Amino acid sequence: MSNVRPESMERITTPALAEAFIAEQIDAIRAQVGSGKVLLALSGGVDSSVVAALLIRAIGQNLVCVHVNHGLLRKGEPEQVIRVFRDELGANLVYVDAVDRFLDKLAGVSDPEQKRKIIGAEFIRVFEEEARKQEGIGFLAQGTIYPDILESVGVKAHHNVGGLPEDLKFELVEPVKFLYKDEVRVVGKALGLPDAMVYRQPFPGPGLGVRCVGAITRDRLEALREADAIVREEIGKLPETPWQYFCAIPDFQSTGIRYVDGQGQRYMGWAVVVRAVNTVDAVTATVPEIPFPVLCTIRDRIIASVPGVNRVLWDVSEKPVATIEWE
Ligand code: XMP
Repeated sequence: MSNVRPESMERITTPALAEAFIAEQIDAIRAQVGSGKVLLALSGGVDSSVVAALLIRAIGQNLVCVHVNHGLLRKGEPEQVIRVFRDELGANLVYVDAVDRFLDKLAGVSDPEQKRKIIGAEFIRVFEEEARKQEGIGFLAQGTIYPDILESVGVKAHHNVGGLPEDLKFELVEPVKFLYKDEVRVVGKALGLPDAMVYRQPFPGPGLGVRCVGAITRDRLEALREADAIVREEIGKLPETPWQYFCAIPDFQSTGIRYVDGQGQRYMGWAVVVRAVNTVDAVTATVPEIPFPVLCTIRDRIIASVPGVNRVLWDVSEKPVATIEWE
């Protein structure tokens, strides 16, 4: 099948166009897979979520969604995937709690590319094990979108499941491969997915792994996850939200002071970094102005509720020279 978007394909900008696309794809999926079973790695990102929702409409229980929790997801994400897909859409969803597996493999590893490799390889291994447990799978669905094809080594190359062994090379089902991101979102809305999923900001495949700087420890990772949820909630309230906004946690500590019975005690604590950027293509990025009261609210909430953190920093670095992520 060609990998070039047909020139006749109209840009999907309205709910009506999305409905027409959905109807067309349901027919195409049914024609391709018949009564066969399809496997999908469902991360909860926009693309895989839209593919899952399309396939559920087309083939129902013959779609097997596998959601791997590698411990590096943001707060509430695994729960949201289960709620939306299993509870609301009635999907055949396999939830894999692989948190300990990933964190054990990552223990003591500080090199960023090594961390990425471990996360990618372990992801494929976990997914492969789940694939082998399923009977009669003939197809693999993927949330490939048109920019992935155009870039061919786009960011998804970091975490897709292209590395499955030969005997698990299923026929691919890629219903959104000719869509641009904005079109995927319009289709997602029409499929009834929640806004939190459809308008989700980009999130790297290795997840919080590249934001928990250096060797990941469970306490620092938990602090990051909590602080990140606060940052996303507070910055998410702005009338115009930045392209990406999140938290990172460096692997150093600095001095803090706390008062016990009126006595000041110095202690060492973590610093968390608030990062917000605007960009068109992630190649360059600028830093938007975040109102100071919003930063103060973030600071107060993090200090009050995230154990071990005694400092909140705001990263004003642009790309270049800093990258968007801290690793
Ligand atoms: P950088 O940090 O290179 O990030 O300025 C550019 C964009 O790519 C995302 N990113 C990744 N996405 N796997 C991914 O899937 C990765 O390993 C990865 N590293 C960075 C980053 O979030 C930003 O949107």
